[in-house]
Amino acid sequence: MAGDIIIAIDGYSSCGKSTLARELAAHLAYNYIDSGAMYRAITLFFLRNNVNEQDPAQIMKALAQIHLSFIFNSAHNKSEIHLNDENVEHLIREMVVADKVSDVAAIKEVRSFAVGQQKKMGRKKGIVMDGRDIGTVVFPEAELKIFMTADPAIRVLRRFEELFPANHNLSLDEVRHNLEMRDYIDTNRAESPLTQAPDAVLIDNSHISRTEQLHMALDLVKERIAVLQQ
Ligand code: DC
Repeated sequence: MAGDIIIAIDGYSSCGKSTLARELAAHLAYNYIDSGAMYRAITLFFLRNNVNEQDPAQIMKALAQIHLSFIFNSAHNKSEIHLNDENVEHLIREMVVADKVSDVAAIKEVRSFAVGQQKKMGRKKGIVMDGRDIGTVVFPEAELKIFMTADPAIRVLRRFEELFPANHNLSLDEVRHNLEMRDYIDTNRAESPLTQAPDAVLIDNSHISRTEQLHMALDLVKERIAVLQQ
């Protein structure tokens, strides 16, 4: 639709990026794409097929066998990721994938595979995508870029509350360790490390509600669209 824009949301793990991105997309009737789910699904494939991450030939062979798609599930009212036609939306959230995903997402070949698909998804605009490199690499031309942060202790607690219902053996320490490790790898890798784009708007949601952050972002969208229509 004329006037539709690309909204790129980047930030650390468990900062509420997906929540904001999903709510924004619903309000604007845009598509929401969870780019992290793509890296997670690729990681699941690598784990299932014992792909050696040090072997570029094995990596390329594996990527050639991977087909990723997002299919709307009306029962859950959201798009869910499919790996070669299998719905893996829940499987990719398990700790075994979380423990490995940052390593897999740091692989050059994996990134160009995922980024190529993500760029195609944005061709028609009207999209909200969240991840680590969306405003810097995937859509450097995005009309609105948001970078989200939150207090590390708050992020650990949020992540714990999200995972605990499905895994009662989980400890806060385990979650903290996983988040610290992912932050380190995501920000220090050679390929597209997590960094705030110079033109991104920073939102720290440590002490604001979901509704407040949504309204902040909707105001930003209105501003950007108004400027574009001038
Ligand atoms: O957002 P998430 O926690 O589901 O992301 C999973 C991992 O994928 C995370 O460790 C960083 C990586 N990722 C990335 O490198 N680039 C993206 N655009 C999205 C996620």
